[in-house]
Amino acid sequence: MSDVEALKKEAGIAACAFVKTGMKVGLGTGSTVKHTVVELGRRMAEEGLEIVGVPTSLATEKLAIQVGIPLVELSSIDGLDIVIDGADEYDPQFQLIKGGGAALLREKVVAQESAAMVVVADDRKRVAALGAFPLPIEVTPFEYEATIRALGRLLDCRVNCRMAGDNAVVTDNGNMIADAHMGPNITDPVAMEAAILNIAGVVQVGLFNGMCDAVVLAGSMGVETIINPRGRLN
Ligand code: 5RP
Repeated sequence: MSDVEALKKEAGIAACAFVKTGMKVGLGTGSTVKHTVVELGRRMAEEGLEIVGVPTSLATEKLAIQVGIPLVELSSIDGLDIVIDGADEYDPQFQLIKGGGAALLREKVVAQESAAMVVVADDRKRVAALGAFPLPIEVTPFEYEATIRALGRLLDCRVNCRMAGDNAVVTDNGNMIADAHMGPNITDPVAMEAAILNIAGVVQVGLFNGMCDAVVLAGSMGVETIINPRGRLN
């Protein structure tokens, strides 16, 4: 296992400390939170933990079923106690860029139904200002090149359609992903989120503002849980 993979596993497992019997848990997407999902399945099988989960992608749904976590739909419950998810970047104000795995829409829907959001990450994800990671934006298939052009005009930067070989990546929702190469200079992610959502053809943007309550961060010195002083877990 590489050093980074080991850090992801440490963070993913440590975040399970937030999960108690009876909770309804949002299950994020990505290579870090997959360790959380596997560990929650292990605790259910071996330690009597009882939870239900809501997955944020088809990949996480498949993994949760494999490890024995019972799944429910948001429409059948009255909100979630917590969501645990990965991030591509987080800044000192606990603002996030997400969507590197193209699951941002479902991730945001699940996060907004959750009483708390815990992010699992390795320390490469901590940044002074968001934007070095290209900002993922989910767009409708209809005339998506035109929507991407409009995003380029708004953001004044290169915006690419995310590709898998010769084909545009298609999300679990049947949409495309535009990646905006802004550089580490997103100073007002709240205003930027609103401006991007105002473009016709945009479904959702991977800026998660005011949602993250804690980050479980793994680095060479060990695992650190950083609580957002303005968050709901404080
Ligand atoms: C998927 C996401 C992921 O949570 C994010 O990309 C982090 O993934 P990883 O833990 O694999 O680095 O937002 O849409």
